[in-house]
Amino acid sequence: MRLVLVGPPGAGKGTQAQFIAEHAAIPKISTGDIFRANVSQGTPLGVQAKAFMDRGDLVPDDVTIEMVRMRLLEDDAAGGFLLDGFPRTVPQAEVLDVMLRDNGTRLDVVLELVVDDDEVIRRLSGRRTCRTCNRIWHVDFDPPEQAGVCDVDGGELFQRDDDKAETIANRLAVYAESTAPLVAYYASRGVLIGIDATGPVDDVTERAIDALRPARSAEQAGRASGSGDRAGDDAGDGEPARP
Ligand code: AP5
Repeated sequence: MRLVLVGPPGAGKGTQAQFIAEHAAIPKISTGDIFRANVSQGTPLGVQAKAFMDRGDLVPDDVTIEMVRMRLLEDDAAGGFLLDGFPRTVPQAEVLDVMLRDNGTRLDVVLELVVDDDEVIRRLSGRRTCRTCNRIWHVDFDPPEQAGVCDVDGGELFQRDDDKAETIANRLAVYAESTAPLVAYYASRGVLIGIDATGPVDDVTERAIDALRPARSAEQAGRASGSGDRAGDDAGDGEPARP
């Protein structure tokens, strides 16, 4: 399955990506995680991305697109993937469409996680992330057993630099201006499914897996019949599902 998660900062994309990717047995590709790994290793890409990330702005499209293009060429992405945080602009989405079409494939589903700004602010201000495995926690909504320590591997939990109040406000503005138009873009292509992403994490995961079931079955049936991917067929005909 080729899947994109879209939603505002703090909607729970990273949290749900962990569970959905595991459930669908596909790699999770998070552009935010790749940028953060490059920042912490001090690579040229990380140095270039850091200033944009610290302000809550988007890293320029050309840099981001090239990074994703290289990642999608890796063997583990050949049979499907979950993209978390990409595309984030209409030009990124257009290039992704071309990349996939050139490869004889297309996206199966774009899953939109719908939450309001107040919930986003509550989620981002309490978020903690494991330095070792990137597992995402929340001090109130999903706390680890011991404060500051990851239950999974004992790694140190840290607060992201871009989770400060003023940066969150800019990230929300950038989302509204640059990323929200993707919802209409993908709705017009008939691949958008929106789900209510409020409530306990497990409930949202269940809603996501339920929403993805038809696309997953269709994709598996296509693979079994040998027709596999559907590049070039009826994109644009369907109606988007909304919560
Ligand atoms: P990125 O890391 O992608 O940040 P984001 O999209 O702003 O999303 P977040 O990671 O902040 O939130 P999330 O939706 O994953 O929520 P999470 O699951 O963590 O990107 C960072 C930066 O990199 C960007 O600002 C940009 O500069 C750059 N970048 C990345 N991709 C780019 C691209 N394509 N183009 C250009 N630049 C790019 O959850 C948040 C918190 O809520 C957690 O604490 C979690 O425990 C909690 N939580 C989750 N679900 C629930 C729930 N149901 N109930 C209660 N709490 C919950």
